[in-house]
Amino acid sequence: MAEVSITQKEVIVKLSVVLSTLALAFASFATQAAEPIVIKFSHVVAPDTPKGRAAEYFKKLAEERTHGRVKVEVYPNSQLYKDREETEALQLGAVQMLAPSLSKFGPLGVRAFELFDLPYIFPDKETLYRVMDGDIGKKLFGMLDAKGITGLGFWDNGFKQMSANRPLRTVEDFKGLKLRIQSSKVLEAQMKALGANPQVLPFSEVYSALQQGVVDGTENPLSNLYTQKMHEVQKHLTLSDHGYLGYAVIVNKAFWAGLPPDIRATLDKAMRDSTVFERRIAQEENDEALANIRKAGTTQIYVLPYKDRVIWQQALLPVHKEFEDKIGRDLIQAAYHVAAEVEKEKHRGKK
Ligand code: LMR
Repeated sequence: MAEVSITQKEVIVKLSVVLSTLALAFASFATQAAEPIVIKFSHVVAPDTPKGRAAEYFKKLAEERTHGRVKVEVYPNSQLYKDREETEALQLGAVQMLAPSLSKFGPLGVRAFELFDLPYIFPDKETLYRVMDGDIGKKLFGMLDAKGITGLGFWDNGFKQMSANRPLRTVEDFKGLKLRIQSSKVLEAQMKALGANPQVLPFSEVYSALQQGVVDGTENPLSNLYTQKMHEVQKHLTLSDHGYLGYAVIVNKAFWAGLPPDIRATLDKAMRDSTVFERRIAQEENDEALANIRKAGTTQIYVLPYKDRVIWQQALLPVHKEFEDKIGRDLIQAAYHVAAEVEKEKHRGKK
């Protein structure tokens, strides 16, 4: 009788061990199933810029539409990584999503993106969007594949303006100035064509470099200039629209390919909607920045007249030819072709 009772006890102990193991396994499975997929989205600009706001908008859409299965963590203002570091971090999988400016793909070995840096290449936004959304954009994204990167969309930040502590009206005014640029060979050639000395610096260091006189001036769309407070340390600003600044939203290719297909499709659509939002607010944000710079009263604003713009163009257009080999003559010609098409349509519309 005593023996039977020990056996029963053993059975009960064993059963309870099995049950608690099962319960633990179930609990850990349930936690795993509930664990969201995390997308770290790192960028270098302020939250109240076209890119900053669109990153937040994407986060909202992605989280809502996946009902919390995806969590997007946005890290603005170079909080995680500076310019060059962030692409390396993406390739290593330390972050999953970025939106670097199109001028920052050269160090990655895809110089063709510098097409967008060619001075005066886009006469208007219509041409630009057709280039981004058509065959040229597809071709550029195709080049990222071998780098372990997938391109999701092109975002906009409008045309760039020049700033310095001396007035920049004629090409001669640039002579000898140290001007901060992004890491692009085209931008280097552009500044040299104006007689200036280009200096590559990460975006996060521009304000202090201007403040301390490490560089004399720079170029950027107004939303970046204003949100980084560059106007406080730049006495003169010329509205020149001489070049363009846009972004490619990119993801780690292995991460993207490894997502459950339904999640990937939802995120893809969220990105398309965020791109529409981003392009819509880009002009508004830059107009608002101009009004704020005016209000601050620290910077004299000069609108480059058409007659001088033509002279700037004459000085800068040779850069297109100089970069035919590095960017690809076919790509440059294709962009000209799009511009001509848009121009023709405008004329037809007028008749
Ligand atoms: C810059 O480095 O000047 C800009 O590209 C920053 C940005 O991402 O808009």
